[in-house]
Amino acid sequence: MKILVTGGAGYIGSHTCVELLNENYDVVVLDNLSNSSEESLTRVKNITEKSLEFYKADLLNKKQIATVFSEHKIDGVIHFAGLKAVGESVSIPLKYFHNNITGTLNLLAVMNDFNVKNIVFSSSATVYGDPASLPIKEEFPLSATNPYGRTKLMIEEILQDLYHSDKNWNIALLRYFNPIGAHKSGEIGEDPCGIPNNLVPYISQVAIGFLPWLSVFGNDYDTPDGTGVRDYIHVVDLALGHIKTLPKLFTNPGLLIYNLGTGSGYSVLEMIKGFEAASNKKIPYKIVDRRPGDIAACWADPAKAQEELGWKANKTLADMCKDTWNWQKKNPNGYLESL
Ligand code: NAD
Ligand code: WQD
Repeated sequence: MKILVTGGAGYIGSHTCVELLNENYDVVVLDNLSNSSEESLTRVKNITEKSLEFYKADLLNKKQIATVFSEHKIDGVIHFAGLKAVGESVSIPLKYFHNNITGTLNLLAVMNDFNVKNIVFSSSATVYGDPASLPIKEEFPLSATNPYGRTKLMIEEILQDLYHSDKNWNIALLRYFNPIGAHKSGEIGEDPCGIPNNLVPYISQVAIGFLPWLSVFGNDYDTPDGTGVRDYIHVVDLALGHIKTLPKLFTNPGLLIYNLGTGSGYSVLEMIKGFEAASNKKIPYKIVDRRPGDIAACWADPAKAQEELGWKANKTLADMCKDTWNWQKKNPNGYLESL
């Protein structure tokens, strides 16, 4: 079985490539490297001692996508490629809509032309907006609070319309909660460009001494310690969720929707404590105003994925913090130093 991984050089994509190769899938990666480095794929090959094909190509260029499909008999696509910075999406929404929506439309058109109709899409818990209750189940109402989230919601709707128009499509919408951590080897991990937007990469850069302190965005939420609560999931558990989805996708199930989360929530202060224990470093922090657009709490009900895919996140918060720190220590400047 040959899988095309769009965005495969990125954070979640590279970890998924490792698990695909471990399961003996043939892997073809398409990535324009706009938010990643080809070095991640070199490391994927080193970890697995297997090879993969790489195309530096852009989903905004249909011809480049068609070249990949004409040179390989692709059985299914895992579609990670997209822009993902929430704040940036508010400042430059058109770039986000163009890249994420047009890129996906181009990909789907080429898949249709080549009669490849199996796709796994990287959706996000952001499609639940501010949930009325917790834990979040797949059938909860959907809404978007920013342009990035709107691209995820729109792509989910496009894929559902496509399925309703042609039942030969098999589509899995995987809604990720908050992916953190890194491969246990410390060879691949999250390599944010510039100052990180997300909590754990930020904490990690405070621990290594690149940033002086963490701003905790609000301690007056209706949560046990007043700080925001999220369902952090180890990126390797998340990657394995894709591995469990593929065999199901190849049984012609039609449309599938799953939450990929652990089912547990941790606060910002609990994350700081967890990281201090893993790194043996003090994480200085200051309480500041809430970040606009943030919600108080969010965690998944992952029961559907467990029942239907036999998938469950296994790694603990200690594993997530330990593996993030191992990656950060081994690669203080991310992939930069290897280039
Ligand atoms: P990432 O930025 O590390 O990976 C995305 C990859 O897509 C990058 O390598 C980038 O170069 C590539 N890309 C972007 N636009 C492209 C285009 N037009 N053509 C070809 N390649 C392109 O991000 P990630 O954290 O690995 O996220 C992967 C997917 O999962 C994204 O769709 C993201 O929205 C989604 N997701 C991420 C999170 C998260 O917190 N990391 C949570 C939920 C959903
Ligand atoms: C986590 C918690 C912050 C940074 C985002 C996207 C979401 C999804 C995952 C893609 C919150 C607090 C953070 C900091 C802080 N991505 N925080 N200081 O906002 O849950 O989700 O990434 O789909 O769409 O919105 O993740 O890591 O930014 O924040 O106090 O410097 O940490 O307020 O409570 P978030 P995050």
